[in-house]
Amino acid sequence: MEKRTIILGIESSCDDTSAAVIVDGLLCSNVIASQKVHEEYGGVVPELASRAHQLNIVPVVDAALKRAGVAKEELSAIAFTRGPGLLGSLLVGTSFAKGLALSLGIPLVDVNHLQGHVMAHFVKPDERLAVSGLAGNSCPQLPFLCLLVSGGNSQIIKVTGDGLQGTGKHMPRFEIIGQTIDDAAGEAFDKCAKVLGLPYPGGPWVDKLAQQGDPTKYPLAKPNIAGYDYSFSGLKTSFLYTLRDMLREHGVETIDELAERVPNLREDLCASLQTTVIDILMRKLKKAAKDLGISHVAVAGGVSANSGLRQAMVEYGKRYRWQVYIPPFSFTTDNAAMIAQAGYMKYLDGEFCKLEEVPFAKTGV
Ligand code: KG4
Repeated sequence: MEKRTIILGIESSCDDTSAAVIVDGLLCSNVIASQKVHEEYGGVVPELASRAHQLNIVPVVDAALKRAGVAKEELSAIAFTRGPGLLGSLLVGTSFAKGLALSLGIPLVDVNHLQGHVMAHFVKPDERLAVSGLAGNSCPQLPFLCLLVSGGNSQIIKVTGDGLQGTGKHMPRFEIIGQTIDDAAGEAFDKCAKVLGLPYPGGPWVDKLAQQGDPTKYPLAKPNIAGYDYSFSGLKTSFLYTLRDMLREHGVETIDELAERVPNLREDLCASLQTTVIDILMRKLKKAAKDLGISHVAVAGGVSANSGLRQAMVEYGKRYRWQVYIPPFSFTTDNAAMIAQAGYMKYLDGEFCKLEEVPFAKTGV
């Protein structure tokens, strides 16, 4: 019997500890342990994240292997997230991956977290995993543009290469053609939600409340930045000032007091914020697609779970004749399936990483 190619993927860049197994190109498990410990602080506390990864990593990897029905001795290689992310968090996954690879005598494959998010589009789950939202989904055709929007990044990435659909390399090439010059879209959602007294992470709450709000109620500032770059810090300030002025106008000090006087306050503010973020994101994406003559357009990262953004992608697709690619919900936020997928591609290309490589915290693809 021919030897199977089995890749274990490990993700620990922020506050999710995740492990996934890909067998001969099919995803057979994807286990995620999210860290609840940060909720009471309204944001990720790096020190606590590293400790929680230490607690979670062994059981999570163990569960991923068991669910895939794979023994660790059968692994062909271990793929891990090398960066960008929180250094303490990355060190846990990296060190674990190195130790296990060394003990098994198998290669290590380092994966850029942002490339991982894009590669989520290429994951082929085994049907036994029953991943919902896959119906009608296909791998993006190269070249394509990917709007990568998460808590730490907002980028437009041009993805090229002939490997996936033809011969040559399996892993595509990534070129960042635009990115945020300050905050990420997810950060804008989270920080504005925090001001409204919503739990962390605020993005999903904004999404939920926005569905009952009026998106035209509170006009918010939009940036005027050249090229394909983004900026969200001005929007955050504009949101804050809108609230500050309303508090003054109504002679109250807290959001709760204000909400008693202004009907639908949180819903309308969330709808206004969400529509502004989406408009900022989509305008630049449209410009990039038009200028570069690329009609295959994907979205990835935690913020791609946003219902308004998903709808906007579909609408733009119809209006501008794009072929649009939207990932299933389970592959939007941080997960190891995407890391195992990128690792599988790099493994097929023979791209391995040395044991002395170290994680990196800063952005880049
Ligand atoms: O990709 P991700 O899991 O982690 C990073 O690598 O940053 O993204 C997390 C971000 C958070 O800012 C979270 O609020 C946002 O994704 N997010 C959402 C939604 N679900 C998650 N933002 C808006 N709407 C959502 N439904």
